[in-house]
Amino acid sequence: MRPAVIAGARPNFVKVGPLLKALRRSGIDPKLIHTGQHYDESMSASFFRDLDIQPPDANLGVGSGSHAHQTAAVMDAFDAWLDANPAIDTVIVVGDVNSTLACTLVGTKRGIPVAHVEAGLRSGDRTMPEEINRILVDSVADWLLTPSADADDNLRSEGAHESRIRRVGNIMVDSLFDARKRRPEVTTIDRLGLTGSKYGLMTLHRAALVDDAAKLADVIRSMNTLSETLPLVFPVHPRTANMIKTLGLSPGPGLHLTEPLTYLDFVACQADASIVLTDSGGVQEETTCLGVPCLTLRESTERPVTVSHGTNEVVGVNPQRALERAVARLSEPVIRRRPELWDGKTADRVVAALATRPTFS
Ligand code: UD1
Repeated sequence: MRPAVIAGARPNFVKVGPLLKALRRSGIDPKLIHTGQHYDESMSASFFRDLDIQPPDANLGVGSGSHAHQTAAVMDAFDAWLDANPAIDTVIVVGDVNSTLACTLVGTKRGIPVAHVEAGLRSGDRTMPEEINRILVDSVADWLLTPSADADDNLRSEGAHESRIRRVGNIMVDSLFDARKRRPEVTTIDRLGLTGSKYGLMTLHRAALVDDAAKLADVIRSMNTLSETLPLVFPVHPRTANMIKTLGLSPGPGLHLTEPLTYLDFVACQADASIVLTDSGGVQEETTCLGVPCLTLRESTERPVTVSHGTNEVVGVNPQRALERAVARLSEPVIRRRPELWDGKTADRVVAALATRPTFS
């Protein structure tokens, strides 16, 4: 097998890290394509260092833009790269970002089989760009490598042939377990002088929340209130930083805004947090594995297993409710049950699954 592995955005790097290593362990030489969807040091390069990812064989350098522009730019550049690299016989994509969709379309249209790691997740919310990406990728990818039983069920209900569905577990957990052994000597919590104190951690980056001025202002107001009793650390995604600046929103003294954290720092900060508030998908999974209470500020989740088995609670884009639930959760016991196959061995199962090619009928 001569695979091209695709990574474009921050959450992809956490997934391809263990996969590239597992492929190499089994004697395969994967080519890594960085689409350049994320390009800042804190959104990309620092993840390559922390996860010990091989330097990309190509960086397509597409950068930011509208969904149409970004998707088309990745398609065009990846197509040209495949022209120059005709030996590639498999494309491996992860997650649900625009780069995932773009490379899936290019691979399948060239007749190259595509494997999707993290297949089958559905939020049921078609206003999310990621939901459209998930549905489209899973309708044409060959291998649908799923993290959980709900994902298998979603794919079956959409008519996917049984041979395409392979449950492998959650590959992000492979990275998470490794990161737990490699805590940085000094974390952001130390730098903020919060070592030994109770604190909360917050991340927000979804367009549906941060691009809506009234909603974002409302969340910052509620979190200022929460931070009067529980200091809150808020590493700010560039999209969110731009909006906070444009709107002139002012965080209170207990709300500590920082640059996006490196991966190892962020894992350490999550592990010691009393509560996490987020609109991220991956953070819902990481908090479940770490046994840290999580409140998701969205109307739905494509990761229901983090609610049924984990520590997650979907509170809606409702800052008042988030505030009330945060206060309540701080005194409730944490129920900890890690979902099946979230065991740190998913990357090897992905490689094993790739040994047999699925059929569509
Ligand atoms: C993308 C993914 C989202 C994922 C998130 C993780 C899609 C549709 N969305 O959203 O699913 O959860 O990544 O972060 O693919 N920017 C920078 N530097 C960077 C990258 C982005 O400044 O390195 C800024 C740009 O102003 C850009 C904005 O952030 O316009 C949004 O970036 P983009 O890649 O379009 O989407 P994300 O919001 O990061």
